[in-house]
Amino acid sequence: MSGQTVRHEPVAWQEEGTPYSERFADVYRTRSGGWRQACDVFMAGCGLPAAWRGHDRFTVLETGFGLGLNFLATWQAWQQDPECSAQLHFVSVEAYPVSAADMARSARQAVPHEQTDTPLATQTAGLMAELTTHWPSLQPGLQTWRLDGGRVHLTLAIGHVHAMLPVLAQHGVRANAVYLDGFSPKLNPEMWSTPTFAALPALCLPGARLATYTVSRMVRDGLAEQGFAVRKCPNAPPKRWRLEAQWGG
Ligand SMILES: C[S@@+](CC[C@H](N)C(=O)[O-])C[C@H]1O[C@@H](n2cnc3c(N)ncnc32)[C@H](O)[C@@H]1O
Repeated sequence: MSGQTVRHEPVAWQEEGTPYSERFADVYRTRSGGWRQACDVFMAGCGLPAAWRGHDRFTVLETGFGLGLNFLATWQAWQQDPECSAQLHFVSVEAYPVSAADMARSARQAVPHEQTDTPLATQTAGLMAELTTHWPSLQPGLQTWRLDGGRVHLTLAIGHVHAMLPVLAQHGVRANAVYLDGFSPKLNPEMWSTPTFAALPALCLPGARLATYTVSRMVRDGLAEQGFAVRKCPNAPPKRWRLEAQWGG
């Protein structure tokens, strides 16, 4: 597939600044809750930052790269942790990549301070600028970009989740942490169906931790059927619950 360019998925920015997908009739994130969700649901749900300490290489697998906010928050936390793993490998699947301009707009808005001169805003702007320099080379299929002086590897698998997860397993991807993020299961049931869950064991290292914001029965059962130990956990308002799971492998 090399040499093909990707068509950017339009993001419908709602009046109050919430990014919305017309394809899925769902929001990418709430206007102000995206950063907090990245930290409280995905990172904390996978035991980060503590979990990457002591590792030479720590691999996060994500379904749904979207606006890149989970990647940005993970990269920022990793960079700020004096005890971080030597390398961070972030692997994400995305069928409908958005434009660099929409990602950058989302990042500017999602940093949790109104003043744009906070250290966090400055750091994330720098990370986003580095990410967006690679974006024009984005192609269907797999690509790995070396960021942060080569210490961070970002693998993007551009294609449908059911097709790309087995390809990643064939390429030897084995994750320490998994973020499942793919719009609401009600609005995008395909993302949360058996082929997705069935592909995960081959992609997980023993003890890998998994996190997601949905506690829907279909997701809990789908993961449990594949052998994940699933736990519904309380979450800060407005979302009362989140899900954690662990692969025994
Ligand atoms: C809620 S957004 C992800 C937000 C993202 N993790 C972030 O941090 O900004 C869900 C993403 O899943 C992608 N997606 C939906 N269905 C998919 C599929 N079948 N295969 C791959 N990606 C899919 C959408 O295009 C969208 O970008």
